[in-house]
Amino acid sequence: MFDQPDFSWGVSSSSYQIEGGWDADGKGPSIWDNFTHVPGNVNNNDTGDIACDSYNKVEADIYMLKALGVKNYRFSVSWPRIFPTGRNNSINSYGVAYYNRLIDGLIANNISPIVTLYHWDLPQTLQDIGGWETEEIIDLFDSFADFCFQTFGDRVKFWITFNEPNILAWLGYGEGLFPPNVKEPGDAPYKVAHIFLKAHAKVYHTYDDKYRATQGGIIAPCLFTTWAEPKTPSDPRDIEAADRYLQFLVGWFAHPIYKNGDYPDVMKWKVGNRSELQNLPSSRLPVLTAEEREYIRGTADVFCFNTYSSKIISHSTTRLSPSSYDYDREISITVDSSWPTSALPDHRPVAWGLRRLLNWIKEEYGNPPIYIIENGVGAKSKSDIDDNARIFYVKTYIDEALKAYKVDGVNLKGYNAWSLMDNFEWVDGYEPRFGLHQIDFDNPNRPRTPKRSAVYYAEIIRNNGIPL
Ligand code: NOJ
Repeated sequence: MFDQPDFSWGVSSSSYQIEGGWDADGKGPSIWDNFTHVPGNVNNNDTGDIACDSYNKVEADIYMLKALGVKNYRFSVSWPRIFPTGRNNSINSYGVAYYNRLIDGLIANNISPIVTLYHWDLPQTLQDIGGWETEEIIDLFDSFADFCFQTFGDRVKFWITFNEPNILAWLGYGEGLFPPNVKEPGDAPYKVAHIFLKAHAKVYHTYDDKYRATQGGIIAPCLFTTWAEPKTPSDPRDIEAADRYLQFLVGWFAHPIYKNGDYPDVMKWKVGNRSELQNLPSSRLPVLTAEEREYIRGTADVFCFNTYSSKIISHSTTRLSPSSYDYDREISITVDSSWPTSALPDHRPVAWGLRRLLNWIKEEYGNPPIYIIENGVGAKSKSDIDDNARIFYVKTYIDEALKAYKVDGVNLKGYNAWSLMDNFEWVDGYEPRFGLHQIDFDNPNRPRTPKRSAVYYAEIIRNNGIPL
């Protein structure tokens, strides 16, 4: 059991994945609306047009949250639902009213909202002026965030600036799989990440300067993580390679924010201005000036992350094609074939990896307060009501989190399961099912049915840990 009575048990979701109402009541189109409307982009040509219809189902969503007994609910606000053109001269009062209804309902039921400001649904109008590739967006995002603090901050005390900026930079701008589908793995991810970092810091400072004293909340980014296990734990080259993997994935954002304002040294050596010294392709990692470093350092109150699986990493000097994810890292990534599979090939359940990851974060960033914001497993079957695999996943992952907390002294403050209900899993559509509740997407009413894992998770929450 967690011996903190206020341990923050919760569940998570995001706007585009659940809300539907894609053009309801004056909402503007997002890049995901337009992307999913092009046949062939998404598995089965699924779209988020209706999704779980949460836009029209505040009460039904709160009912599920109450039944689970969660202390928090993490969701995101859709920028184009609030500002249809992305700018603060076009406020959609219906969108604002929707989030007010949701937040008020949560508070009335003693559930604390955790609100993400950016979970990938950029207003199309802002993509049209260059999106996250132009510095102009920093002020626009800041004014959206400012509006949210001003409007919802009397009740919202936990803000997340960006969800998984580290994965979005690769999927949106390297591999080009997610909108805006830029396939420039050489340098676009590094440039965009640079802008994400500056936008994050700006929003943090706005909160700090204008709202913290009166509203008293906390704010942080939420990074994607995967534990990296060295292939041969006795081989220093593999240990170093696994750490390099984590630095390129997590340190990319966490080092500037939680350490010294700058990118990790190993990134500067491999892709930054020191790479020329080793005859590597010239610098692609932008330089953070002294002033920017000072501005970015310390811009998080807690450490938030999502995690689903682990990888096995070994050192490799074979340089793959420059379009490859691991090109810059000189690593080879594998998995253990004995690890169970799940609906997504990258998401094999490896619970012990969570304990190691938590310890790595503790050591690397000086034992910050940590919130696991997403953790869960997707099933391939749409009728996984008797979801024993998910029960096993939740149980073993929470068990490892408990060991990290109790035995290793990791400062863990909260755990959120992904997800409250089945939802739109990006380019994979509705096929992977991540919910603790099942949604019948063939039924226009989108009925919600608890799976066995929902009952089990509720028991964990009641017990403040795994039931004996
Ligand atoms: C992380 C993302 O934040 C979320 O949107 C996604 O559905 C889950 N991973 C599962 O892949």
